[in-house]
Amino acid sequence: MQTLNVNLGERSYPIHIGAGNLARIGEFLEQAGLRGKIAVVTNPTVAQFYLDPVGNALKLAGFDVTPVLIPDGEEFKTVKSLQAIYDRLIAERFERKSCVLALGGGVVGDMAGFAAATYLRGVPYVQVPTTLLAQVDSSVGGKTGVNHADGKNLIGAFYQPKLVLIDVSVLRTLPRRELIAGLAEVIKYGVIEDANLFTLLEQKIASLTQLNEDLLIETIATSCAIKARVVEADEREDDYRAVLNFGHTIGHALEAVTGYTQFLHGEAIGVGMAKAAALSARQGFCDAESLQRIEQLIERAGLPSKIPGNVSLLGLIQAMEVDKKAAGGKIKFVMCEGIGKTRFHWLAPSEMLNGLGA
Ligand SMILES: NC(=O)c1ccc[n+]([C@@H]2O[C@H](COP(=O)([O-])OP(=O)(O)OC[C@H]3O[C@@H](n4cnc5c(N)ncnc54)[C@H](O)[C@@H]3O)[C@@H](O)[C@H]2O)c1
Ligand SMILES: [Zn+2]
Repeated sequence: MQTLNVNLGERSYPIHIGAGNLARIGEFLEQAGLRGKIAVVTNPTVAQFYLDPVGNALKLAGFDVTPVLIPDGEEFKTVKSLQAIYDRLIAERFERKSCVLALGGGVVGDMAGFAAATYLRGVPYVQVPTTLLAQVDSSVGGKTGVNHADGKNLIGAFYQPKLVLIDVSVLRTLPRRELIAGLAEVIKYGVIEDANLFTLLEQKIASLTQLNEDLLIETIATSCAIKARVVEADEREDDYRAVLNFGHTIGHALEAVTGYTQFLHGEAIGVGMAKAAALSARQGFCDAESLQRIEQLIERAGLPSKIPGNVSLLGLIQAMEVDKKAAGGKIKFVMCEGIGKTRFHWLAPSEMLNGLGA
């Protein structure tokens, strides 16, 4: 087992990463000073595997457990689902010291986190992420929220959990496509911050996708440590936290123009990272060998790296311009300078069109 700490003064919290951690969940929550009423927010897909074990372990540790089920899917990450969570908390008379636990992927985590941030102006919450994406990305850093009909994550708050509990064993039930999509974020950490992580992935990507638990613990811990350091440096994304958007400007645009149906988020980020690396090489920031290594690792992980033929490049660029990072006609990009190092750079649409076509 590994434990890391996210150091944010009085909002600091631990991340525990291990195999079989769910069975010990009561212990970890007690250590974090939590007790009493707890709402376990989850969805039916995750509940069928993990609600009973988690609920029973919490009851054994003396918690008063209220399961709260929301339907499975990004389309339910809405104010309406949030309302259903508030209704349950109010009906069960949850108080300031009562606690919310998110058991699921990023959808459940973002929504339960926002419910916790806003119910009674904030109650403690715990992240128990069950997708690889949630384990390495969304459960750490305190971004919470829901979607609006006009855009993703438009309603939200920065609100840190009291604890993140990661059990790599739960990845065994995760659909393979979701697992691979989560790997995109792990590769991202290697490219932006950690050449050793990148090399480890190059050597062991096959064992990782076969769910070797020691390797999962090591790579998830390294990923969480990188995310924690970035969040510590710039909790509210005033500037530096935007390095985490490597591959995301193009990736988000690709998700948007394909109506959020063709690609999982991580798959779009696979394409986005390959193209961001190609743009970086074109601008003279990234050497040819690093570009080739990045493209190869993305492909070997089983992720797409090319913009599909049915997607218009102009449409893609228009989608980037409406993205919140566009200003003055130029688009802010995270460029890589080889592996493990990045810089920000502003690009005009014309420069991008040439680069993306390549
Ligand atoms: N807060 C942040 O910093 C942050 C960062 C990245 C992404 N996000 C958000 O995260 C969301 C995407 O998260 P996601 O990729 O985890 O998707 P998700 O939460 O939709 O989970 C993917 C699917 O896997 C299922 N699932 C989850 N765990 C499982 C398990 N162990 N076994 C079997 N099935 C399981 C889910 O029910 C769902 O069907 C998006 O809404 C995105 O905006 C937030
Ligand atoms: Zn992402």
